[in-house]
This record gives sequence, structure tokens and C-alpha cells, in this order.
Amino acid sequence: MAISGVLRPGYVQIRVMDMDAALKHYVDRIGLDLVSKESDGRVYLRAWDEFDRHSIVLRQADRPGMDCMGFKVATDVELTRYEKRLKEAGVKVETVPAGEQPGVGRRVAFTIPTGHRIELFSQMETSPQCPPTINPDVWPQEPRGMRVVRFDHCLLYGPHVPETAKLFTDVLEFRLTEKVVTPDNAMIGAFLSCATKAHDVAFIHSDEPAKFHHASFFLESWHDVGHAADIISRYGISHDIGPTRHGITRGQTIYFFDPSGNRNEVFAGGYTYYPDNPVRVWSADELGKAIFYYERQLNERFLSVVT
Ligand SMILES: [Fe+2]
Repeated sequence: MAISGVLRPGYVQIRVMDMDAALKHYVDRIGLDLVSKESDGRVYLRAWDEFDRHSIVLRQADRPGMDCMGFKVATDVELTRYEKRLKEAGVKVETVPAGEQPGVGRRVAFTIPTGHRIELFSQMETSPQCPPTINPDVWPQEPRGMRVVRFDHCLLYGPHVPETAKLFTDVLEFRLTEKVVTPDNAMIGAFLSCATKAHDVAFIHSDEPAKFHHASFFLESWHDVGHAADIISRYGISHDIGPTRHGITRGQTIYFFDPSGNRNEVFAGGYTYYPDNPVRVWSADELGKAIFYYERQLNERFLSVVT
């Protein structure tokens, strides 16, 4: 399989209300590296196994949530091709000039039917701390905190999930890996992949637009999920649920909150997706098992607390 077009989630820009507390959380506890603090107040972070300059952008604000999620596209030619496809689909597109985020080329930005701002980019500087490529050790410096490997995906809440899934599949060439449907076959959950992961972004219906459910980081093993749980208890981090497992994607997971109330996930596992896989379908009455396979029921917080 050749992966072209949209390659992967590249960054997420998260609003935080106390930058010092946020950095303690994301750097010391989750284990991201601090890349730069810029004069506009934004702070850039990356995980140890990422080649690109940054993957998490924190912005000081008076309310939590997500400003935007950016996806990396294979080439500038592909970026232009998606820009054209979006315009042809009637999507209003904005160009963000190169350098608006340090080290990042021009970006193509647009708002999807759920109300979220999505961006595409094809160029980002390589991190000076990126993983070695000649006789590479398993890591350049031993990972800290929860030892997250990479920024992996976001789950976003908003209206018009079917229209959003259609935009991602028909225009951005993602594939629908799993969906949740009501008894009358309305899609209330969509899990979408641009490559071989079980999901790169997911959407769950809510009446309120542009809500941020969580940003997720990948771990190497189920043992690391337990290690993350130890850190959550040791340092009194606000805990949501887990360690547990998802039915959807089959990831092994734990959820918690940053000091501003944004939900984070760290997870391991999940299946490999291939483009000839059929769509896996969950009925809404099995949503508990779909989300939390061991508990087989949702906690109210997971459904209602979003930023
Ligand atoms: Fe997730």
C-alpha cells in the first residue's frame, strides 16, 4: 500500500488557562519536549519519536478547548490538489502564510460541518532532536513521564457527523474505519483513517459545535498504560477513566485532564487498518461496550465533559 495524500495528524493547538501549570503537565508528566516559547505566547512541544519540529501547540486563553487540528500532506503539489478539491466541494478555504507557526510552510485552513477548524500543511522543519537514522538507538534520550511516543489523534464533538465524515472521505480521501449508528441508521459516531491506523480523527455527535473531547498520545505497550496510571495517581492528576480498553479501535487506554480541563488520552495497541477492510459498525445500544469494552457502560463524564 502506498501512503500518499494526507499522511497523518501533524499538530493540535490547545487552549490553556495557566501556561506554567500546562507545561508542568505536558512536559513533566506526559513527557513531551519543550521546543520553543514564541513572542505571541504560544508554546510548541513534541514527542520523542517525532521527526517534525512540533506536534502540540499550547495557547494561553481564558477558556480551554481546541483552536485547530493540522494534518500533514505528503507534498506541496498534494496540498494544492486538496485546496482545489475543497473549493470544488464548496468549502471556504483560507490560506495561512508560511511561518505563522515557526518552521511550518503554508497551510490550507477550513471549517468542517462539526464547527472545528482543520488545517493541512506539507512542510515542517525537522526537529534537531529527531530520532537518529544512522545506526539508530531505540531513543535518543530516555523518554520521561508517561513516555508518549507521538501525538496520535483527536476525538471531536459536534453536529453534522455524517456530512463531516463525507467531507473527510470524499474530499480528503480518508476512509471510514468504524461508525456508530442509531436504530434508524443515523451516523452518530465516525472514526476516520488516512493511512493504516484504526483512526486519525474521530467525531461523535453533539448539538454544540466545535467541542474538543480529547487529544491522544501513543504509548508503546499496555505496561506503559499502567505506568501512566501510576503517574496520574502519584501526582494527583485529574482522572477520567481507565486503564481500560476500547471496543472501537481495540486500543488500551487511560483518560485524564490537563490543569485547564482539556481531556487527554494515552493509549497502546489498536489494530492495523487496510483500505480494503470493511467498515465496522456499532449500534448505539452497544455504545458502552464500543467505548469501554471492559466496563460495558459509559460514564456520564465521558459523554458530557468537553472543552
Ligand atoms: Fe482517543
